[in-house]
Amino acid sequence: MCGIVGAIAPRDVTPILIEGLRRLEYRGYDSTGVALVDGNGQLALRRAVGKVARLEEKLTAAPCSGAIGIAHSRWATHGGVTEANAHPHVSGGRIAVIHNGIIENYEPLRAELLERGYVFQSETDTEVIAHLIHDCAKTAGDLTRAVQQAVARLTGAYAIVVFDAQVPDRIVVARIASPLVIGLGEGENFVASDVQALLPETRRFIFLEEGDVADIRRDTVEIFNQQGEAVTRPEHVSSLSADAVERGEYAHYMLKEIYEQPRAIADTLSERIVGDHVLEAAFGPKAATILPQVMQVHIVACGTSYHAGLVARYYLEQGARIPCTVEVASEYRYRNPVVSPNTLFLAISQSGETADTLAALREAKKLGYVATAAICNVPESSLVREADLSLMTRAGPEVGVASTKAFTTQLAALSLLGLAVAQRRGIDRRITALYARQIRSLPEMVEHTLKLDAQIKVWAEQFADKHHALFLGRGPSYPIALEGALKLKEISYIHAEAYPAGELKHGPLALVDDDMPVIAVAPNDRLLEKLKSNLQEVRARGARLFVFADPNTGFEPGDGIEIMTMPDHIEPLQSPLLYTIPLQLLAYHVAVLRGTDVDQPRNLAKSVTVE
Ligand code: AGP
Repeated sequence: MCGIVGAIAPRDVTPILIEGLRRLEYRGYDSTGVALVDGNGQLALRRAVGKVARLEEKLTAAPCSGAIGIAHSRWATHGGVTEANAHPHVSGGRIAVIHNGIIENYEPLRAELLERGYVFQSETDTEVIAHLIHDCAKTAGDLTRAVQQAVARLTGAYAIVVFDAQVPDRIVVARIASPLVIGLGEGENFVASDVQALLPETRRFIFLEEGDVADIRRDTVEIFNQQGEAVTRPEHVSSLSADAVERGEYAHYMLKEIYEQPRAIADTLSERIVGDHVLEAAFGPKAATILPQVMQVHIVACGTSYHAGLVARYYLEQGARIPCTVEVASEYRYRNPVVSPNTLFLAISQSGETADTLAALREAKKLGYVATAAICNVPESSLVREADLSLMTRAGPEVGVASTKAFTTQLAALSLLGLAVAQRRGIDRRITALYARQIRSLPEMVEHTLKLDAQIKVWAEQFADKHHALFLGRGPSYPIALEGALKLKEISYIHAEAYPAGELKHGPLALVDDDMPVIAVAPNDRLLEKLKSNLQEVRARGARLFVFADPNTGFEPGDGIEIMTMPDHIEPLQSPLLYTIPLQLLAYHVAVLRGTDVDQPRNLAKSVTVE
């Protein structure tokens, strides 16, 4: 998704902007650009289709520098992937604008501006903002006022960053529904869509709130709310280190992040289970009053986070004996749901900025839930700031577009939620103590599971030339099959589907032949024998079976069936998380063999901040 970086400093800001863009590459993008006010007071613009490296080549071919500048990585929404559509967009040779989000009323504004004589160079909604601010600047007498007047006419979602080359003493920014953070330096200040971009420069951040406009100069930051009143927003000091996003010895971020899982899960559990007890305070100061009222949970999320929600349903229904429903956010927000009394609304999101999940949370706040809660990986995110309760996954920055450690830490956090609710519901203490011990041993068991990597790499060779794959599971292994299929399709571009194995004979069995590898998730649980029968149906149609199974499940390798044996002593509560690991590794190795862009797969973005 689009990325924003801006800087005003007593030095050349070009390297800061390029490094910021590089650090935002993980979000996914298709073109980049930079605008600076050069030493002669002229606006210098360089843009390129493709990776940040292409922009660097342009800067080498035609160097420019300046003490005030803005840079952007674009993920196309309005208009194709072309240099003309890349940001920054410029009006009158002086106003430069970068923008994340979507302007919904750009067509009437464009028509109005065309009539007023503005000439458009691109197909984007963003260029409308540049001309509108230029138009307002003619009478406003001040860039900040011009931006305030212009944004008052915009509907939709935006984070915008603007400078005026004729008054190069400030950057003006504004946001609604798209994140924007100001980085504070000494005699210099910065702005970005994500703290990651600015960590080499500062750890001190101000998170702008909905409707804020800020005037950022070298020594001052002035913030105004949507009503135009001067306001103060708190300063946060980030605990993230600048090198948390380095790849180190790993060939890809995804592989690094897969191997980080024992540490990430241990961090997520740390200080939250004491003895055999989950500390409710981990969910926030209101948890002690909210959790006792919870009789039902409704979970809303997207993509991988939705799959985590599907697993959580088992934690909450089987473990804590309360009803739980799960839904994708893009459907929920338009459904006009009926809310049962004492229902907790739970949003799950790695980024905490996913547009649909955030909109669902905002909708839910109007609907009479007992409270809203977020399970999220980014403490400063909009989702966390707006939910009543939150539990942070401590995965650390996840750079690979394909979620790995974000998913397993979500499962760890959700198992804590299940246990906290079970405690409150008065479930037998011997049972909750057993759950607590099983949750605590997860990091060590993930470590053991990662040892399957070399064998999985060999299996991957049998998938590299395939066009389709089918993943099967039952009970809580079905969402894991869904997650395995999502991983494979998003990074290897092999078409992959997941089915609850019992559904096979109701349609998908027609697809099965000797060219369709079938991957089965087969823990030793109460559905094992049912799954085995389903797999017989698949074998009878000539499919090649790849089964991930517990020891002593009775599967025998043979003609057309390969078995990968998981570590010993996996308990049902642990199996969803542990069976995820080999499926992540399988997708990774298949993608490497096929030579795809593992960390930044085509057409995808890390954080989907538009609807
Ligand atoms: C999966 O690998 C993707 N990263 C994607 O499905 C992701 O889970 C989805 O876009 C939701 O993102 P979020 O967790 O940041 O809300």
